[in-house]
Amino acid sequence: MKSAISSLDIGVAFEREEEAVHMAFQSASKSTVAWVDGEDEVSAEVDPFALVAADVRKLNKNVKDLLGSDHPVLSTVAQYFFDSESQGGKKIRPTMVLLTSQACSPENVVTPAQVRLAEITEMIHTASLLHDDVIDSSETRRGRASVNQLFGNKLAILAGDFLLARSSVCLARLRNVEVIELLATVIEHLVKGEVMQMKNLLKNRDLNAFDYYMRKNYYKTGSLMANSCRATAALEGHSLEMQQIVFDYGRACGAAFQLVDDMLDFTSNEADLGKPVLNDLRQGLSTAPVLFAYEAFPRIYKLAERNYEAPGDLEEAFKYVQQSDGLERTRDLALQYSNAAVAAALKLEKTVARDGMVNLARKITRPIL
Ligand code: FPP
Ligand code: MG
Repeated sequence: MKSAISSLDIGVAFEREEEAVHMAFQSASKSTVAWVDGEDEVSAEVDPFALVAADVRKLNKNVKDLLGSDHPVLSTVAQYFFDSESQGGKKIRPTMVLLTSQACSPENVVTPAQVRLAEITEMIHTASLLHDDVIDSSETRRGRASVNQLFGNKLAILAGDFLLARSSVCLARLRNVEVIELLATVIEHLVKGEVMQMKNLLKNRDLNAFDYYMRKNYYKTGSLMANSCRATAALEGHSLEMQQIVFDYGRACGAAFQLVDDMLDFTSNEADLGKPVLNDLRQGLSTAPVLFAYEAFPRIYKLAERNYEAPGDLEEAFKYVQQSDGLERTRDLALQYSNAAVAAALKLEKTVARDGMVNLARKITRPIL
């Protein structure tokens, strides 16, 4: 049965987001246990990345082929993150699509269309990063010079546009209107999330800052994961129920992923992160650790109001985060989302791929444990 895709999905996503936000604020326990009923059936040895390694290995070459153009400069710039020197990132989005494809298939088969969808997700993600690095004036990405640093802002934007255009052509060639609609919505969400991020959360007192932050995270990170997992199920005509399960899985993984990223900005180091620490504060962004810390240290409002730009602001905000329970509560919330992703995956029939999905959801929070 074909589903009528509507904004209802987003409404449901937000209702659940609000539930989790509520839980985060109610939570008396300072360390959510990362365990879900039924998880003891899962084989801990299943490596999610190994299950999809063969397809992921071919991804760079396939995308480079898809990006061939009669314009050498455009091709070179767009292919920059898909060449052999690029460490290429973790490819978490295609990994999720491929694992979900396996787990939804009774025969554990991934079709060529699903492999192409996995490639499309990485192209859209990379296009957004090319634009993001221009917006953030980033000089590095994945341990290399960023495209804007190497080729300039204009070419970085145009190469991002080119990647997006090619990914749209590939998407259309899947000949599935529902899947096109899902991924087109993701592109809209990426732009919306980036614009939402421009708002100074604590400065706008009329906003429920945490709710706004979680919505922004859904648009910026969760939507691509949720909708591409759903799209791969839709592509093979799987039931609406199954589409909902894998949408929930992707959405929860996305929320956990962003919370982990925002926490590591305070707790990690430049070598591990591949970018400077306290980068979010430097950009004037108040993320979960700061929003939680604000409850105990309202003085943060003053610093946030001036985008942490006065001398000593970064250090002072960092001190409040450390002295508060902000980091603990951020970890707690990330674990709740990881649990939600595991619970969604456990609704699928037990297969190696399903166990891979569970283990991937757990790996997302490993850096903060
Ligand atoms: C990384 O954010 C950026 C994103 C996840 C999305 C960026 C989206 C846009 C720029 C809108 C345009 C979209 C398209 C599809 C062209 P970050 O700065 O928090 O993370 P980082 O530290 O990896 O840079
Ligand atoms: Mg950035």
